[in-house]
Amino acid sequence: MKIGILVGMEETFPAKLIEKINDRQAGVTAEYLKIGGIGIADPNQYRLIFDRISHEIPFYRSYLKHAALNGTIIVNNPFWWSADEKFFGYSLAARLGLAVPKTVLLPQKSYKPGVTDASLRNLQFPLKWDEIIEHVGMPAILKPHDGGGWRDVYKVHSKDELWAAYDSTHTLAMVLQEFIDFDEYVRCYSVGRKHVLVMPYDPHNRRYLPRQASTLTPDLEDRIIRDTILINEALGYDLNTVEFAMRDGIPYAIDFTNPAPDADIFSVTEPYFEWITDRVTDLLIDYALHGEATAKYHRWSKWLNYDVQALPNQMVGGERDNLAERLFSGMGKVARQASDALTGVIDQITEPVKSKSSRKKKGEGSEKEAKGKKGSKDRKKDGSKKKDSDKDGGKHKHGKTKKGD
Ligand SMILES: Nc1ncnc2c1ncn2[C@@H]1O[C@H](COP(=O)(O)OP(=O)(O)O)[C@@H](O)[C@H]1O
Ligand SMILES: [Mg+2]
Repeated sequence: MKIGILVGMEETFPAKLIEKINDRQAGVTAEYLKIGGIGIADPNQYRLIFDRISHEIPFYRSYLKHAALNGTIIVNNPFWWSADEKFFGYSLAARLGLAVPKTVLLPQKSYKPGVTDASLRNLQFPLKWDEIIEHVGMPAILKPHDGGGWRDVYKVHSKDELWAAYDSTHTLAMVLQEFIDFDEYVRCYSVGRKHVLVMPYDPHNRRYLPRQASTLTPDLEDRIIRDTILINEALGYDLNTVEFAMRDGIPYAIDFTNPAPDADIFSVTEPYFEWITDRVTDLLIDYALHGEATAKYHRWSKWLNYDVQALPNQMVGGERDNLAERLFSGMGKVARQASDALTGVIDQITEPVKSKSSRKKKGEGSEKEAKGKKGSKDRKKDGSKKKDSDKDGGKHKHGKTKKGD
């Protein structure tokens, strides 16, 4: 039985996974997969494919969907991966009772070639910028609705700064979001929607911190673990990172659509790397031996049944806990087990110490959150062919309306 690994430029993570899977001798072997032209009747040689790069290579994505149809288990689910974007994620997380910053989805600044004013008649113009700004407050974060890797993320302090940033976003659909002035920031690795590793993270220097740097109370960490499992259950991701910004004891979910999260030893550091590669090895072997085919498509809608829809958009306190209990009975126990398992990790994790072999490889570039590279070239292009320079208050170019606001 074979596991195929599909990768981009990253080195340390897939290499270690292949080594660990093969060392286990569990009746499953792992290798880098090789493919060329694919026919619809071609036999399928992999029981499972671990995908780290199909967001950048459409050929791979198409192949993976076909492989799923033919019974291969794909981690992560290519159908969901194709469908997700940040704004839907915030909306879903809010419905599930997670704390989410106030967020507004904005119409694009420009459009691809061929889209004319006539195609945009449904868009309100000018936008009600003052109301939007009042809702999210200042400073605010402007970022792509399906971005990644910090690309095109702006922090703006005023309407002028917002407009200047917005003007440079061209054809990207952006969200404007309340800036969470955090006391602490964590990035959580979630594996198999069961195992959660809470890693303190320093966004200013973009580096992971040792576990000892965390000031989270056990209760807060429990909530973070539970929120992480809940959102991944709903999204159906087997591997993901979820970022939280802590403000006044509340963990705000900031970024949780990272289906190919950075796992390079040089960025996550060795103790976390060991945890991640062990858990992913367990997961892939377990799925290969016992898993259900990805064709049994995971649907987020099952988490939003009619009971949930009857509830208000944002839930607080007991209401939220009740919902979480109902949604995944027994999952609280799982979260607590995950939390207990962390204690073991905490004991192991001290200041990161690099192994000899990793020191040797130090020169290699660490692959940033792989999702971040999605389609950047095209996006830089302002396809609208219109001049992008007028500073009208409307901030998007369509319709015959006058400069607004
Ligand atoms: N609402 C927010 N409040 C505070 N910081 C934020 C917020 N949104 C994003 N950031 C900062 O910007 C970084 C990049 O944003 P993120 O949503 O993670 O996008 P990406 O998918 O590009 O990583 C985050 O790691 C965080 O440091
Ligand atoms: Mg992020």
